[in-house]
Formats: sequence, structure tokens, C-alpha cells
Amino acid sequence: MPRPRECPFGPSPDYARLRIESPVVRVKCPTGMRAWLVSRYADVREVLGDSERFSSRTGQVPHMMGHADPERPVRPGEFTRMDGAEYQRFRRHIGPEVGTPKRLAELRPRVEAIVAERIDALAAAGSAADFYGDFTVPVTTAAISGVVGVPYADRQLFHTAAAAVFSDITSEPQMAAAMQPLHGYLYQLVRARRADPQDDGVSRIIVRSEQSNEPFSDMELVAMCAVMLVAGFDTTATALAHGMFALLAHREQYARLQAEPALIPSAVEEIVRCFGGAAGIARQVTRDTRIGDTPVRAGEYVVVAIQAADRDPEQFADPDRIDVGRRISDHLGFGYGTHQCFGQQTARLELTVVLEQLVRRIPTLRLACPVQEVPFKANTPVIGPAAVPVTWDEILPSGEGAR
Ligand code: HEM
Repeated sequence: MPRPRECPFGPSPDYARLRIESPVVRVKCPTGMRAWLVSRYADVREVLGDSERFSSRTGQVPHMMGHADPERPVRPGEFTRMDGAEYQRFRRHIGPEVGTPKRLAELRPRVEAIVAERIDALAAAGSAADFYGDFTVPVTTAAISGVVGVPYADRQLFHTAAAAVFSDITSEPQMAAAMQPLHGYLYQLVRARRADPQDDGVSRIIVRSEQSNEPFSDMELVAMCAVMLVAGFDTTATALAHGMFALLAHREQYARLQAEPALIPSAVEEIVRCFGGAAGIARQVTRDTRIGDTPVRAGEYVVVAIQAADRDPEQFADPDRIDVGRRISDHLGFGYGTHQCFGQQTARLELTVVLEQLVRRIPTLRLACPVQEVPFKANTPVIGPAAVPVTWDEILPSGEGAR
């Protein structure tokens, strides 16, 4: 459902009515797929939390993207469409690269340096910028490049691939052609790291997998790296840009963070509650069952409206208000259950470091145009602004006081 122009900070108000009148409703999706649309927090959590009754075999966004055929056989390494033990084989080896305290502690200084450098670049460029294109995309691209172990200079390959994945390409051959340059590149990378492991994510995944009973093939590794690169940067860049857009439009919230940086962790959760989750995630029913009071049958598709669930007043008080002091830990912006976001700790770290440095170094940061003029992306599951024009009076230098 399209977002209303008058309020760019929330899903369509029709969801409020659906949650009450038809919380599990039969819909025709943009790709033509028929599915049950689920919008209540408790129901969405139930679906995402039960991978035995609700399979991920569909892929995440077949309701939005014409090329994402839910019936297509699962390819080697396409772990986002796997269930059970088949899936856990991947999670076990990738998880440590993006979630352990040790890895995050190593990542923090890298992310701090990336963010400081991008703020310096804003200062050098003048007194206005597009916060999305000039800031959040480069920051999250550099971060995910570092996590996987792909040089930042080669980012265009996965930017182009992500643009294709989140585009309205409908045919399989077109999609394969769009992904080929990234896959070819990653194949060379995987071969090189197998022969000569480095201190990077790909090498460590290869080494861990080689020590296991069922090592990954080159093609599996290529697919895994491609998913990480494509899933890792624009989701974070868009949530961050959308979140800052909201904080600057409700500027008292930005001022609150400046006065009380201890609120930054809760601000990060609030941004993900309000702007995470993308345009919902799909699942397939594995056996006849119920969602809430509604019977659903084996083989049918389900789409969970995550952003609507995260605005459910049964779960969150005054849910449409963005409140950086809100104390929550149970939003669904990173999903829930078995397939919950791999990169959530990485994303949290990126959002935290960005907010820490922005409130210190750019206290006068503000929107450079009226809220209604901020353009939005169209035909993509990664919902958010296409640009966030911002301006400022002064950018304070980085350094001791600015970290
Ligand atoms: C604010 C930023 C982000 C948001 C809102 C977000 C959101 C999500 C959601 C809702 C899912 C669940 C999909 C499902 O249940 O089928 C997911 C999965 C995933 N995310 Fe994120 N994500 C973010 C950042 C990242 C980052 C930085 C990475 C990489 C380091 C990443 C990698 C992944 C991967 C690989 C999956 C698939 C997991 C699976 O199917 O098991 N994400 N993400």
C-alpha cells in the first residue's frame, strides 16, 4: 500500500483499520501473487517464530519483485530460502562474522573511522548534502565491504547487483545477467582466499567451513557473499536516512540526543522499529493451520507487514510517535525467529556510531527542504527516502572531543 504524502514516517493508515477489521486478509500482491497479509504484532511474531509451519522457501520478497519466483528451485548457497538443518549449516558459519562481541569490538574502530571520514567529506564539500546518497550509502557500503572482505573500490559491482535485485526486472535471464559481474568477481575472490587466506570475513568462513563435515563449495560461497553484500548496505543506509529524516523533521528528538547521548541505544531501536522490516517478508504455509482465528492451508503464501506490526498499539504505546527515549527490545524491524537478520548487530553498531558522531560534530544539522518535498524510492521493498537534503552552519573537527 502506498505511503500517504502527508506523512512520510509510517505505513499506510489503512493498516490501522486492517489490524482491527481484517488482521489476516487475502490480498493480491504487486507481483500478482495471492497471499494472506498479516498485520497484527502478535500474529506476525507467530508466523516469523514458527519456521516449521511457515517456510522461508518463498524467498523474502516474491510479493514485491517480479524476478523472485517463489516456486523456483533453491540455488546452492541461497540460504535465505532454506529451512531446518539445511539452513543452520549456513547460519553457523556466517553468524560469527557479523555477531560475536569479539568481531563487533574489532569492527567498532573501523566504523568510527569510516563515519569520521565521511563527516569530514561533508565538511569539505560545503554546507549542504544529500544525507542518503552522500553519507549513509558510503558509510554502510564501506562497513559491509569491511565485514565481508571486499575492497571499497569495488563497491560498484554490488551496488549494481543490489539495484537489480530491488528493481522491477521480471525475467530470470535478465536477473542472471545483472548478477553475473558480481558473481564472476566473487568467484575469483573465493578462489584466491581459498589458496591464500587473509584476515577477512570470506577467508574465515572458508576456513571454518573446511574444518566442518560439509565444507561449502565455491558456488555456495559466492552466493553467500553476494547475499551479505546486497542485503547489508541499502537496508542500513535507508533505515538510517529515514530515521535521520524523522529526527530532523521532529527536531526536538535530535536535540534530545544532543543533550543526552546516553539515549542513543534506544534511539537506534526506535529507528529500526519505525523504519526497519522493509515491505514485509513472505512465507509459505507448510500444513493446514490457523493464524489468529483465520484458517490457512498448506501451500498458501503469507506476507507479514512488519512495519504495520511494529505500529500495533496493542504492543507499543502511542506507536506512531517517534520517541528516542522509548524503552523497547521487542520490535520486529530485524525480523524474528530462525531467519532474524544476520547483520543486526553490525547495523546497530553503524547506526550507533553515526548518531554519536553526528550529534557531537554537527549540532546544527537540519533539513534543507520542507518535509513534503523529500523524494521517496518507488517499486522497491527497501522503503525509504531517495534523498534527504540537509544543511548545517558548522561541522566541528573530529578528534578527542568529537569521538
Ligand atoms: C537497519 C538495517 C537492517 C534491517 C532493517 C534489516 C532487516 C532484515 C529483516 C527484517 C530480515 C528478516 C528476513 C526474513 O525473516 O526472511 C533480515 C535478514 C537478513 N539480513 Fe538484515 N537488515 C538490516 C541490516 C543488515 C546488515 C548490515 C546485514 C549484513 C551484515 C544484513 C544481512 C541480512 C541477511 C544475510 C539476512 C537473511 C537472514 C536469513 O534469511 O536467515 N542485514 N534483515
